[in-house]
Amino acid sequence: MDLTISVIKADIGSIGGHLAPSAALLERVRETLDELSRGLLIDWQISHTGDDIALLCTHREGVASAKVHALAWEAFRRGTETAKAQGLYGAGQDLLKDAFSGNVRGMGPAVAEMSIRERTAEPFLFFAADKTDPGAFNLPLYLAFADPMNTPGLILSPSLGKGFRFVIMDVAAGENDKVIELCAPEDLYDIAALLRDTERYVVESVWSRATGEQAAVVSTSRLHNIAGKYTGKDDPVMLVRVQMDFPATGEVLAPFAVGHFVAGGMRGSHNMPLMPVPRNTPTSYFDGPPLVSCSAYSMRDGKLSEPQDCFAHPFWDAVRAEIAAKAIAMRRQGFFGAAMLPMSELEYTGIKERLAGLATRFAPR
Ligand code: F6R
Ligand code: MG
Ligand code: MG
Repeated sequence: MDLTISVIKADIGSIGGHLAPSAALLERVRETLDELSRGLLIDWQISHTGDDIALLCTHREGVASAKVHALAWEAFRRGTETAKAQGLYGAGQDLLKDAFSGNVRGMGPAVAEMSIRERTAEPFLFFAADKTDPGAFNLPLYLAFADPMNTPGLILSPSLGKGFRFVIMDVAAGENDKVIELCAPEDLYDIAALLRDTERYVVESVWSRATGEQAAVVSTSRLHNIAGKYTGKDDPVMLVRVQMDFPATGEVLAPFAVGHFVAGGMRGSHNMPLMPVPRNTPTSYFDGPPLVSCSAYSMRDGKLSEPQDCFAHPFWDAVRAEIAAKAIAMRRQGFFGAAMLPMSELEYTGIKERLAGLATRFAPR
């Protein structure tokens, strides 16, 4: 039977603002999984990136399993009790609905899941980002799966040379998700034309054209579509299978050295460079910079190895120093121009009310 890897993540409260969950909160979530996962999950691990707690699970229940999602919901619900008891900021913030209704998708938590035929060696990467949104993964996925300047495997390996199929979602389509399928390399310019607009078009999944196997999946939830108003950034998670018919681990990691500008940071309303960080890193400067962690795993029959913390390597210290400088350079221009997000993406309505107030005072020259 196929194996399913599920990542379900939520922000259910954090210490000192939007920095990181408390040890007691993480422990409560861990205890809940320990108690309720027997007979359901093959394996699981908990980590946090900034203020988001991610549950990485393996099981044979398939994607969107009501049982697995109910377990995650219960873990987050009990965690919220602890967050409230400790007075953590934003307790229960991502649990947008009161009662679980069979699938956490559309209820606040972010979900990335894929069912696979497990290879004899199954290396994969689990990414979690904070203070940004799913479009943050557009550029790294484009580079890793479609650009031979980043991924020499596309010209060196006959299997990778057949290219990859991108499933791209229009996340502004409201309740009825709309997707388009495009193939690299022949649709490269169409893929590029969509992916440049990171707030509207988001890579949902990537598939090998050589084998038909799924290579990657990204959480695509937009919280303001669910809540009807802005309730925070949609800090995304992503799974990427690597090696053999997929890009090598290093080819998938390499794009994160760019430190590309993404939506996020202070009040969810700025453009800031995405910084690769070790697992369990809190946020800091200007409620950011937007963070991304990557844990590499191997597994056999769904049993996970311990994680390798990809961005803990000393190489990334130099990258982080460069990205910190980029962040400060952008911050020098405060709220002007490219530093702050366009009106449609701002987290606060105050500025719209301010402008509406001024509109009546404009007089013809
Ligand atoms: C994401 C995150 C931010 C906040 C945003 C607004 O993890 O924490 O997107 O939601 O900074 O937060 P407030 O208004 O509570 O400061
Ligand atoms: Mg938050
Ligand atoms: Mg967060």
